[in-house]
Amino acid sequence: MRFRSKKGTKFFLKATVLAIVLLTAGCDPGETVGPDPTAAHDPESVKEQSFSWTETDLLKADFTLYRVDCASLNTDSFPEGCSAGLLQSLSDMPYGEDPGTHALWGYHEDPAILRDDDSLGKGLTVSKWVTDKEAPEPSKVAICYDFSVPDGTYTVTLGFYNPFGVRKIYVDCEDTNKIKKEKILRFNENEKSFEAKVTDGTLNLKVYNPDAKTFMESPILSYITVAVEPEYTRKLLTAAVEAMKVDDAEELYTEKTASAYISCLESAEAFLAKESNNGKNQIKQKFNDLRESYKMLTKKIKYDSFNPGSVWTDTEGTPIQAHGGQVQQLEIPDPETGKTVTKWVWVGEDKTNGYRGGVCAYTSDDLYNWQFEGIIMRNVSSRKALEKEAYFKSLYAGYTDDQLDNVALALDAERAVIERPKLIYNEKNKQYVLWFHADGPTATSDSNYAAACAGVAVSDTPFGPYRFVGRYRLNTCPPDQEDKHPQSKGMARDMNLFKDTDGTAYIIYSSEENLTLYISKLNEDYTYLETPPEEAVYGKDFIRLFPGAQREAPALFLKDGKYYLMTSGCTGWAPNQARYYVSDSVMGEWTSKGDPCIGDTNHTTFESQSTCIFRDVNSGKWIYMGDRWFSDKLNDSRYIWLPIVFKENGDMEISFVSDWRLQ
Ligand code: GAL
Repeated sequence: MRFRSKKGTKFFLKATVLAIVLLTAGCDPGETVGPDPTAAHDPESVKEQSFSWTETDLLKADFTLYRVDCASLNTDSFPEGCSAGLLQSLSDMPYGEDPGTHALWGYHEDPAILRDDDSLGKGLTVSKWVTDKEAPEPSKVAICYDFSVPDGTYTVTLGFYNPFGVRKIYVDCEDTNKIKKEKILRFNENEKSFEAKVTDGTLNLKVYNPDAKTFMESPILSYITVAVEPEYTRKLLTAAVEAMKVDDAEELYTEKTASAYISCLESAEAFLAKESNNGKNQIKQKFNDLRESYKMLTKKIKYDSFNPGSVWTDTEGTPIQAHGGQVQQLEIPDPETGKTVTKWVWVGEDKTNGYRGGVCAYTSDDLYNWQFEGIIMRNVSSRKALEKEAYFKSLYAGYTDDQLDNVALALDAERAVIERPKLIYNEKNKQYVLWFHADGPTATSDSNYAAACAGVAVSDTPFGPYRFVGRYRLNTCPPDQEDKHPQSKGMARDMNLFKDTDGTAYIIYSSEENLTLYISKLNEDYTYLETPPEEAVYGKDFIRLFPGAQREAPALFLKDGKYYLMTSGCTGWAPNQARYYVSDSVMGEWTSKGDPCIGDTNHTTFESQSTCIFRDVNSGKWIYMGDRWFSDKLNDSRYIWLPIVFKENGDMEISFVSDWRLQ
């Protein structure tokens, strides 16, 4: 079973032997993968083909015979990180003979099925098949593929990326229904797998929706993989160890992925060193561990500049999740040595799972490269979890039932909204205090922003876990002033903190239905207001700023004796024009200085919303930190960090720089 294929030579095969040769002794190294050319040619019969390959070929292809990037136009290349299956040379093609491998495969052309591109998709989900708007009978439309394979059992995986309304998918394979009425959710990367047994040399696939009434409900398809189940032998494991050997893993890959890989590799090698180890299940385990850890290896990225708007990954290669965040320099105990070290600390919203999530923290020495320190305040899956899960049990030991009810409500993973977390260290009692916009529905309203509270959590260590203390409505408009939203008192939404030179801390937040900003003084512990709202004195305990001006996303800082307050307008996730104010004291008169952005032609703060402004002590640079929210894919929202230039008169200017450094 060997052949050398001539490029471009067309031939058809009539082979009766359909064999999968897994490292059989007869396999010569360097053998070309593909059908057997010595078989008799018969243009009439194109169905049966024979294939041969080595274990190393299979390993290289990750046991994938076909990986189809559906409807891709760039047919001889794959998105980064993906490669063709063993039996294909193109990323997609109409049914016929593959020009590289001569295997027969592809889609069946149908005028009702069209190519479509998704700007929000990634990799294999960029292109996909959709149904033509004009298709007369959407319920009869089907996306069909055939793949020639040796008889056997396969794992078929289908990927659907759906930027439209929810739809349902049916899949038939080998004339058997494999997926029925499966919901394909909007913006989710939906992946479905099933096993298929092939006995006739061709795997047939049909994706459809017989219930579709309009093209919006008809089938879509982004990618397909057809993979063969490995045979778990010592030989396979030996070949895997050889094929997946990386000598300088520690140097090239992130710490965690490299150490996981090294331990799996060493464990597989130790296993093979013992002649007696032949158990299939053990081999399977070792093989899968090695394969998984090898796949997970993530290249180290060392940043030496800021690239506002680009994906920004942490030192493990995972996109940073610290939205609506804050960066500050803190003296913290080194987790390994216990010695005090100076670190940049970034806290922010974890939007890994979209809209709702907890609070993440990262540390850095240079502001470019950030190490993930964990989810420092988690949200809670249920009231029961507080008493059952070890993490919450110890954190909330001693809380009364009422207090626990309150925690469950404020941190509810399904209902609570946790936004714009800000951290402040209390020198006096050595406590870290986390404030955040704590929102969600109430007993009388289902709105996500009905609670409109400021939440507080505390910890003795910088990276928690933070224990939720309470969420509160704050100060209210004095009777002699015009309340812009008298129907709901003391609201607190977008917020920030500021610690003045004398150690007094303030909370700055949007109130009165986001129409008026407030600044309120915190108590010495920084865990509540200095004076409760009922007794608070206007001008001493709190002030109202710019009533009716509708400002939010506040970021307050002090420079050369002047206080600056950066703000955005209120347009939800959509960016708008920034405006900043200056004052001689926190509780003093604030003067509007307008928009600090230069060359921001769309007046959208370079498509971002402020969240923090801080100074890098080493370079002396002031940095504007904003969020570019992607409302349809919040977890992919980007960070816009820009250098601030202060003019001689103290005026602030921010220009967009796509690649910049501190020095
Ligand atoms: C913005 C606010 C964000 C988030 C968003 C929700 O106005 O700044 O933090 O609450 O609205 O639409």
